[in-house]
This record gives sequence, structure tokens and C-alpha cells, in this order.
Amino acid sequence: MSPRLITFEGGEGSGKTTQVKFLAAWLAESGYSVLRTREPGGSAGAEAIRGLLLGRSGWDPVAEMALHFAARREHWAKTIAPSLAAGSFVVCDRFFDSTLAYQVAGQGAPRRTWEQLRAATLGTAAPDLTLYLDIPVELGLARAMARGDANRYDRLGLDFHERIRQSFLSQAAAEPGRIAVLDASRPLAEVSAAVIAVARGRLGMP
Ligand code: TYD
Repeated sequence: MSPRLITFEGGEGSGKTTQVKFLAAWLAESGYSVLRTREPGGSAGAEAIRGLLLGRSGWDPVAEMALHFAARREHWAKTIAPSLAAGSFVVCDRFFDSTLAYQVAGQGAPRRTWEQLRAATLGTAAPDLTLYLDIPVELGLARAMARGDANRYDRLGLDFHERIRQSFLSQAAAEPGRIAVLDASRPLAEVSAAVIAVARGRLGMP
């Protein structure tokens, strides 16, 4: 099987990080080499940029988007591409779909700039499969608050998060071959089962 990049997307409280860990563990148990990583971050330089992004608010939206793509380029060059070249699966918590959702739909940066930055930093590289964990905004935020680790993006209000959700849904509608939508309001075990079923089916695994 050729190397594969699998990304997860989802709003706050969608259980995304749990499912990232679950799929990575399942792949490893199935005998595949797998690297689990996240954005923003995933390499030394990208983690430093993450500190800038999450450490303060009030970035200009285009500047913020450029920082996300700078972090992603570092992550790609230092972590993702070498792992894929070595034959590993890479399972990544968030990728460029998050930038379209948060910085373009959420914060109003121009979509054209997202396209330009994407092309400049990654060329035509893209995930082979993206699992979008969809959850109604109020339920997701209630879950995120309950676990007590709301970051600055979590505090931006219902309207912001609704724009994020609609962006992910329209991205999935535009690219159904790459992005699968999973109902993340279900119990954890059901979502995990759906993650495995979709990964198996889309990646042509036995
Ligand atoms: P994190 O604590 O990792 O949250 P989550 O568990 O929701 O992924 O913080 C990452 C935050 O960064 C998250 O709220 C979404 C935001 N983000 C962007 O705004 N743009 C991006 O391109 C990425 C990758 C993340």
C-alpha cells in the first residue's frame, strides 16, 4: 500500500483528538508504520509558531493565516513528507481545511490568499483522506467547556463557530472524494467504529 496522509477536522468538542489517537493505534495494531501528529505544530519550528498563534489574540487575519501556512510548511518539510517517503501512514489532527474554516470563513481572510499560500507552501500536495467530525455548535462547545481546556479560539462565540461548521460542511460537499463527514454527536465508540469503517473503505484496506 502506498503512503497515505489522513487528516481529521472538526470543531471544538467533536472528539477529534481522541479519534486521531484511536485511528493511529488501530493502524499500528494492524501492522502499519504510523506517525501521529497535529497542527498547528508537529515539528520544532511549527511548535514555536503554535506558541505565537495560541499565545496572543488580535492577529490580523491574513497575518494569522500566513503563520498557519508557515507552520504547515515546516511541518510538511520536516515531519510529514519524510514520514510518507519512509512508507508510514501519517495521521494528522487538523490541516489546511482548518485554515479555510477558521481564517477565511471565521475571520474573513480572502479565500484567494488561502489558495495562493496553499500553492506556495504545498504545491498540489493534499491529504489522501480527511475525516470531518461534525457536531452541532452548542453541543460541541458544551463538551469543550466541560473538559475545561477552552483556548482562545474556543471563546469566539456561537456565530463564529457556526461559520466554521458551515465551511467544513461545504468543503466536504465540494470534495466528497477526499472528505468524509461523520456524525460526532453519537457516543464515542460509535464514532470510532465509523472512523475505522471509512478508513478501511476509502483506503481500500482489507
Ligand atoms: P488546539 O488546542 O490544538 O485545538 P483543537 O483540539 O480544537 O484542534 O488548538 C488549535 C486551534 O487552532 C483550534 O482552535 C483551531 C485553530 N486553527 C486555526 O485557526 N487555523 C488552522 O489552520 C489550524 C490548523 C488551527
